[in-house]
Amino acid sequence: MNSNKVAVLGFFSVGVLLLFIIVIVQDEGKVMEQISRASQRQVKKQGEETDKKIVESPEKFGNIISATEVKKFKKGKEFIPTNDPVLIEYIRKQMVGPSKEPLTLLQSQELDQSQEGQSKRVDEILHHKTGGFYVECGAATGERNSNSLFFDGVRNWTGLLIEADPKSYDAMLMRNRHAYSINSCLSPDNQTKAMSFEVAGERGGLESEQRAGPGGKGAANSAIQCFPIDAVLRALDVKHIDYFSLDVEGLEVAILKTFPWGTVTVDVWTVEFRTFKDSKMHPGLTRERYDAIKEVFDATGLYENNGTLPAAVPGGIPSMGGLDVVYIRKDFV
Ligand SMILES: *[C@@H]1O[C@H](CO)[C@@H](O)[C@H](O)[C@H]1NC(C)=O
Ligand SMILES: *[C@@H]1O[C@H](CO)[C@@H](O)[C@H](O)[C@H]1NC(C)=O
Ligand SMILES: *[C@@H]1O[C@H](CO)[C@@H](O)[C@H](O)[C@H]1NC(C)=O
Repeated sequence: MNSNKVAVLGFFSVGVLLLFIIVIVQDEGKVMEQISRASQRQVKKQGEETDKKIVESPEKFGNIISATEVKKFKKGKEFIPTNDPVLIEYIRKQMVGPSKEPLTLLQSQELDQSQEGQSKRVDEILHHKTGGFYVECGAATGERNSNSLFFDGVRNWTGLLIEADPKSYDAMLMRNRHAYSINSCLSPDNQTKAMSFEVAGERGGLESEQRAGPGGKGAANSAIQCFPIDAVLRALDVKHIDYFSLDVEGLEVAILKTFPWGTVTVDVWTVEFRTFKDSKMHPGLTRERYDAIKEVFDATGLYENNGTLPAAVPGGIPSMGGLDVVYIRKDFV
């Protein structure tokens, strides 16, 4: 054989070999593709089976809410009726029940720690009623400045404490309040959604005495779940409240506008209206909020004004110097 023939044969052999390799690699690709399709099918099938399993045996875990639902609640883009059973069940599961131990006050043993005599005024209006039900929204730690503590510790009431700030809420749980509680905010527009909150005011102390409220200064780093008051009250099947204390650093009017006046009766309200701007009481804004609260109560036709706390200077503007305004249900008086 001459060298030319050897070269041609060599090239031919290499060519055939390359062809074989290409065919094998292509086949390998096809096989891999087939395997991956099959495994995808299997995963999908397994997923369906898992879903089916959960649907078929809900009793195993109770009615656990799906991530889909929770996302819906947090996004707040979808309209969720306040009587939605899934929502109400979800709210109930966020609640903590009343303590079975004696009250544990950590800063003062005083049972009336309301800031401007709210507890005393309400107690007089209600003729020292025992065994009633309160709702305090903006409950903070459930001790300092608490309007409901007196009714818990002295009048043997139970109730519902609502606090948005997680630190204050955790501190509240240490007090053994004999009330249901929930770490959430009340929705200002009747919609279930998460809202960014900022810590308002800066008071000292070993634990957080601060209350969170939307707006204000500082950067918010977490969103708090807000529920409409109607849905929250449905979660506990509450139809009557003896005393409602509302103090949420600015959202009072918006929340009041969502209140289910037709289905839930409240005998006495104290609503904070004093308004601050740049850490100073702002007379114009305070007056505006006082008037806006009055407008909501007047529109219900159910309430009469019982003045402010502290009481207004005789002949003075009712809003000036006041912190809370008191409303009493006419049918109760
Ligand atoms: C709040 O929403 C519910 C439906 O989710 C509605 O029935 C109710 O009237 C609303 N209340 C107010 C005050 O808008
Ligand atoms: C306090 O209320 C509970 C029911 O909420 C009742 O069982 C208990 O007897 C009451 N105690 C007093 C001292 O009134
Ligand atoms: C508030 O209500 C109480 C009890 O009904 C009454 O005695 C008092 O005069 C009222 N005060 C004002 C300022 O309306």
